[in-house]
Amino acid sequence: MSNIQMQKKMKDGFDEKTFKLVKDIGALADKYSFRAYIVGGMVRDIFLNRKTVDVDVVVLGNGMKFAKIIADELKGAYKEFEKFKTAKIFFKNNWVDISSARAETYEKSGALPTVSLSSLKEDLYRRDFTINSMAISINKDNFGELFDYFCGTLDMNNKILRTMHDKSFIDDPTRILRAIRFETRFGFKIEKRTLDLLQNSLRHNIFNNLSGERLREELFRIFDEPSPLKAIKRLKILGVLTKINPNIQVDLPSFKLFSIIASSRKLIIGYKAQLRNLYLMALLENMQINEVEKITKMLKLSNEQKVAITHSIELQQLPKRGLSDISQSDSGLYFLLQKYNTEAIIYFMLMQNNKKQTLGIKRFIDKLQYVKIQVGGADLKDFGLKQGPEYKHILDLVLKAKLDGEVDNREEQLRLIKRILKGQ
Ligand code: CTP
Repeated sequence: MSNIQMQKKMKDGFDEKTFKLVKDIGALADKYSFRAYIVGGMVRDIFLNRKTVDVDVVVLGNGMKFAKIIADELKGAYKEFEKFKTAKIFFKNNWVDISSARAETYEKSGALPTVSLSSLKEDLYRRDFTINSMAISINKDNFGELFDYFCGTLDMNNKILRTMHDKSFIDDPTRILRAIRFETRFGFKIEKRTLDLLQNSLRHNIFNNLSGERLREELFRIFDEPSPLKAIKRLKILGVLTKINPNIQVDLPSFKLFSIIASSRKLIIGYKAQLRNLYLMALLENMQINEVEKITKMLKLSNEQKVAITHSIELQQLPKRGLSDISQSDSGLYFLLQKYNTEAIIYFMLMQNNKKQTLGIKRFIDKLQYVKIQVGGADLKDFGLKQGPEYKHILDLVLKAKLDGEVDNREEQLRLIKRILKGQ
């Protein structure tokens, strides 16, 4: 493809702001004598007509130095990841990742580091799949020149996902999950040898070497796809899930849970709940609570997420009969559900197959959980009641009456307290 054709593709593939940002970075590369390339998923997505906003740049030479220049000149916030020799520059609506292609350096005093295109090729070779291993130059003299050393465009045209080298999955087990995410996202096929390598890698306890955080982020990226079910099915068929943890047993009913969550997307987002947390609940649904606790710890979930997941398991264990009796009254629902995390309750609602119960739980989420009474401890004190556990008991009775529509305003609530106290 000619540079002109590629430039047109870039213009069409990026939104206006991203295209300008890429050009600005290219101009800075010229000004400060760097060779810069956009790389990875960003290049892939141009060919697949998907819009990307985050920019991934590889620089021949000292990428950190170039990243600081970009941050300075384009007024972005700079963050360096020393360990990985990468930097991120944050702008209002997107960010730029900068990394250095390993330069061939001759450390003779005074000698300039010699950087060559072979370091770009090496950088691309270390990546996950051929479709993610292309680069496009953004310097002015060859803006739009495509570097496709490993036939990424050919694989893309043939809808094939091919690993770059035999050790790829062993080097980085997250690539197993990535393979399945890309395969299902793009409707590609994992090429035979790549699939063999993936399956071979599973024979070793490959996930033992992977940090909980990285595993979690990769799982969440699957959950962020519009419909993760396909990927989950594939992960199960290939035996990936049980390699992650033998207790993750998804079955036909779990598949249904994934579909329900996907089709309730709008509702879940409307409640400001995290889809990923609900998918995780579905993934761990068949596990024992002590196993769930272990896995949430391993995945280094936040405390709030841990609570949400464990509550979702506890809620399922509520006796079904009890729930249908209790959901007859609003106060019953309230006192049953109020101690649980809202995301867990939303999940619980979606999993009901009894309409009345679903509506009851929805009423709790929308309304009942916010019901407040207009009397408090000070009123009980005025009634001459000594402070103690009785206070909570009486106020709960008032709340129950309010929830069930037996009392409304403060006067009625005070009258009820009087009646309760007399009855004692
Ligand atoms: N990469 C890799 N191995 C990984 C992660 C990333 O080789 N385990 C490389 C790939 O070249 C990838 C690029 O880094 O394209 C950027 O990675 P990332 O932003 O994680 O993914 P994208 O490919 O951009 O995918 P997505 O569209 O899901 O963001």
